[in-house]
Amino acid sequence: MKDMRAIGFTQNLPITDEHSFLEFFEPKPTPTGHDILVKVVATSVNPVDTAVRRGTTIKLPRPKVIGFDAYGIVDAVGDAVSLFHPGDRVWYAGSFKRPGTDSEYHLVDERIVGPAPKSLNPARAAAMPLTSLTAWEALFEQLPLSLTTSKANAGKSVLIINGAGGVGSMATQLAHLAGLTVIATASRPETVAWTQAHGADMVVNHRQDLVPQVHALGYPTVDYILELSNLNQHWPEIVSLIKPSGHIVSITGSETPIDLRALKQKRATFSWEWMYTKSYFGTPDMISQHDILTQVAQLVDAGKLVTTLTKTFTPINAANLRAAHELVEANRMIGKVVLTNELES
Ligand SMILES: NC(=O)c1ccc[n+]([C@@H]2O[C@H](COP(=O)([O-])OP(=O)(O)OC[C@H]3O[C@@H](n4cnc5c(N)ncnc54)[C@H](OP(=O)(O)O)[C@@H]3O)[C@@H](O)[C@H]2O)c1
Repeated sequence: MKDMRAIGFTQNLPITDEHSFLEFFEPKPTPTGHDILVKVVATSVNPVDTAVRRGTTIKLPRPKVIGFDAYGIVDAVGDAVSLFHPGDRVWYAGSFKRPGTDSEYHLVDERIVGPAPKSLNPARAAAMPLTSLTAWEALFEQLPLSLTTSKANAGKSVLIINGAGGVGSMATQLAHLAGLTVIATASRPETVAWTQAHGADMVVNHRQDLVPQVHALGYPTVDYILELSNLNQHWPEIVSLIKPSGHIVSITGSETPIDLRALKQKRATFSWEWMYTKSYFGTPDMISQHDILTQVAQLVDAGKLVTTLTKTFTPINAANLRAAHELVEANRMIGKVVLTNELES
């Protein structure tokens, strides 16, 4: 069996340690069933990568491969595959339960894969799948919104906490496209400018109390809140700012319990969004991620959504993966960081 290159870690070392990631060889897998084998051309780093690595408390017997975004070319397909053929260019985020995209070839279930946009090079495309799926599911599955009801959404407001990060950069674009009034949060001149360029109508600073800032914009409350950074820190502001019968979606965990009783008087709804739920549990609607990625690619090719790529490392190797993790760990990312083997295509 032919071998392939992969990058992984066996223990949680400081990211500046040259052994925090290592390159190794393992057998190139063969796809079966609904799996496709993808030759990875570009991959990105998300906070989940740094969380998984830093959450590893033991020395692993073999390297763990992470990475949850890919642009690649289909190399081979399983016997039940109907959506893709060898040679197709695809993009996807993958599954939390399986080895990640930091490898030369990668197995993924076709139902969570979409055809890549034709108008983006591999790096620009690889910046988008995980964050697009998260933002899309939060807005259009967990909130009662749709891109096709943008007229009905006009006049509705959404507060997006963390507007310039990877997810926020897609959420502001999608919420704007859906016709909502978007109030995003950002704390630096460059993140403020970025959110405004990606669809935010107004910007408030998440390093200061959000409540008086949103009031000062003329909004005593907002219809919807997307919480994309630090639920515990922002919970009192969320409780205060949500409209009666409003709806909150959080994508981050909470380090300590949050008090849902605080929402009772307003009878506000609280939902979690976890981008991996469908693939983790193999839900019957898991093919909806194929549909979402297909629609996002069409919106990109139609010029309605733009890539959120801000930093590229070439090629995909352990040193560049360490550098990309270091950037994400700093919690100051604007848009996305990508590793690619091919800058243009
Ligand atoms: N549930 C899911 O499916 C899912 C999916 C994707 C991500 N996530 C999680 O969602 C979070 C955001 O992910 P991401 O990729 O968008 O992150 P990211 O790109 O790393 O976010 C970086 C941004 O966070 C902002 N920020 C830092 N501290 C903040 C605070 N206390 N309040 C508000 N904003 C703050 C910074 O803005 P300034 O520099 O302007 O302060 C920076 O621009 C992470 O915790 C990630 O693990 C969950």
